[in-house]
Amino acid sequence: MIYLEGATFIQLQNKIENDVIGPSKKDFEKVFYNPAMSGSRTRSVMLMKHIIDSGYLGDSEIYVMDGLAASGLRARRWLNELPEEHANRLRVTICDMNEKSIKRALENHQKFPPKNEQGILNHKQGDLRTTILDQGWHWVDIDPFGSPIPFLDTAIQSLAKNAILEISATDTAALAGSSKTALMRRYGARINPDNLAHDSGLRVLMACIARSAAKHDRFAEPILSVWDSHHLRISLKVKKSVEKANKLEKKLGWRVSEPNKKEVVASMKEGLTPQSSTEHLPMHCFLPLSYPVSREDKRVSGPLWIGPLGDSKVMASFTEEQVTSMCTIEYNPMNPMNWNQRDYELERRKIIRSIKNIKNESGIIEGEFLILTDDLASWRNVGSPPSPKKMVEIINQKGFKAELSHYPKPSFRTNAPWDVIIQSLDLTQPPM
Ligand SMILES: C[S@@+](CC[C@H](N)C(=O)[O-])C[C@H]1O[C@@H](n2cnc3c(N)ncnc32)[C@H](O)[C@@H]1O
Repeated sequence: MIYLEGATFIQLQNKIENDVIGPSKKDFEKVFYNPAMSGSRTRSVMLMKHIIDSGYLGDSEIYVMDGLAASGLRARRWLNELPEEHANRLRVTICDMNEKSIKRALENHQKFPPKNEQGILNHKQGDLRTTILDQGWHWVDIDPFGSPIPFLDTAIQSLAKNAILEISATDTAALAGSSKTALMRRYGARINPDNLAHDSGLRVLMACIARSAAKHDRFAEPILSVWDSHHLRISLKVKKSVEKANKLEKKLGWRVSEPNKKEVVASMKEGLTPQSSTEHLPMHCFLPLSYPVSREDKRVSGPLWIGPLGDSKVMASFTEEQVTSMCTIEYNPMNPMNWNQRDYELERRKIIRSIKNIKNESGIIEGEFLILTDDLASWRNVGSPPSPKKMVEIINQKGFKAELSHYPKPSFRTNAPWDVIIQSLDLTQPPM
């Protein structure tokens, strides 16, 4: 069957099984294509456009490795959906150890060539861990079945001085704290499996990537982090810098839920919690790595990344206009899928949904608090959870930053002191 994802066609061997959305379906014989990962590929196109525009990768050729390419659709979308002047600078290679994946990707590339005719798709068939070190790369994408840990060290060593690394993980049971032994074994961390576990999982993965980068004299900083149904993904800038790599420890620490007064005061002293009275204590706070925590303490997650999980300029570029103009196409009655106008509209909406709230959150990605409104209501023992939008409005009126968050639960991010958050919550409640 022929399918349209974003603005790019792909011929698939079988009908799409909508339930193919997890790592459990790994089958090295088949060519893997998962429509549920479409959002991750769309964000990748958007990110590449912004990074090229920013000049971070210089002004000549950009060597890109789609490391675990499967159907090759991610690479084909870069070549097809980026504006011509961007796509023409790309030298894209797909790698997969499945021979059929490479064959099918090349067939699709030929059948549906990129609109930018100079787009060339190179390929390497084999184990990424050996092939990736053949040359240096400006952009490496690692999208494995399960954990990315086996690929991390070689991927980092293969990067140019200024590079982008995009890493996915689907071992969500480990990274959400429910498979504790796998989490400790792979990532050397613990996660409290509370409602913030998805954010903690992203931070634990980020800490591992940053440590691996530091071992190779590099500094990694996240520019976009997303937990999207069954997978999580972090995109990072990685730069060669011994000086910055030496300071990595400052970016690592712990997250403590239900912190006591001593912990909250220590967190404020380190600038990890906005200054506030301690009349009401926050639901959670970060502590530096040097703070002594007990191994048995179930409230503690970490070691994890305690800096921002994104870059405000990058995130601000995720606009509806941009994604619509690059990643959607107009309805054509002669389309090869036999889609009607409504099918096209549904695909367009899906594409827009994949960047929802990223731009909103850009102005506050450095905010210390990610607040889940359901948790806030039960923490304060108030009747009904406030609307995140209302909370954002009130906090903004009080002169602090707050925005809705791109988190899979109703939530907002803010830099307001805890006192202000509590006052704002009280204002959302009906009078007694
Ligand atoms: C989750 S899929 C990748 C999905 C793809 N990036 C996309 O956007 O559709 C993982 C792919 O990695 C390939 N693979 C697994 N281990 C590999 C290795 N060591 N070297 C190269 N490819 C590998 C598998 O054959 C599979 O096609």
